Amino acid sequence: MDIFDCHSNAMTNTELEKQNAAKAALEYVKNGMVIGLGSGSTSEYMVRLLGKRVSHGLQVSGVASSNRTASLAKSLGIPLINLGEVAALDLYIDGADEVDSDFNMIKGGGGALLREKILAHNSKRNIIIIDSSKKVQKLGVFKLPVEIIPFSHKSISEQFRKMGLNPVLRENGNQIYSTDENNFILDTDIRKYPEHDLLNKTLLAIPGVVETGLFINYVDVLIMGNQALEKTEIFHHQRS
Ligand code: 5RP
Repeated sequence: MDIFDCHSNAMTNTELEKQNAAKAALEYVKNGMVIGLGSGSTSEYMVRLLGKRVSHGLQVSGVASSNRTASLAKSLGIPLINLGEVAALDLYIDGADEVDSDFNMIKGGGGALLREKILAHNSKRNIIIIDSSKKVQKLGVFKLPVEIIPFSHKSISEQFRKMGLNPVLRENGNQIYSTDENNFILDTDIRKYPEHDLLNKTLLAIPGVVETGLFINYVDVLIMGNQALEKTEIFHHQRS
């Protein structure tokens, strides 16, 4: 029985699309691989499926992109290692908040963008798994998360405000949201900045900005669940 069958009747199309994309990504996993494990709900489906395969004898090691994913992977018996223990990941599988027609992405809705970008950067192949709502013509309806160090959050926020980015300091209940690396996140409106590569470089040049959720040129394979077409679409992209 499929591990998700127990609640599939109640599943929305979006959840089915996420689940189907996650299943399709598992086809790329081979024995002996070191796999980067993404964060977020789509990645969670993938990690659960991977855990099932590991319990049936698949031998892989995982590198988790967040503490949350690490806990889930451990609970499922997926062996975890640190990034420093390997020269590169064989595969990194993760979700996204938006993917545009050039295969550039906004990520970090779940707050794990820093480790996610480090894993994507250090992987031989990146597979992105999404539901169909994430595919957009142009990035920017989703607010771009920017990870910053707490020491300078007020000055960076002011600089972003002057740039027209309408920064909002992310909160968690009544508290400022803190990332796994103990940083803060500013969620920003980038619609005035259509040159995303340039914007990324401009933001990264500001002292105290640690990383942005703009993932430029990181996708090798995009897997998108599409319930309207009753299939999962797979797009291959040649990174420049
Ligand atoms: C977390 C991320 C996630 O990949 C992104 O937010 C997508 O999440 P979901 O699969 O829940 O829609 O970047 O930092």
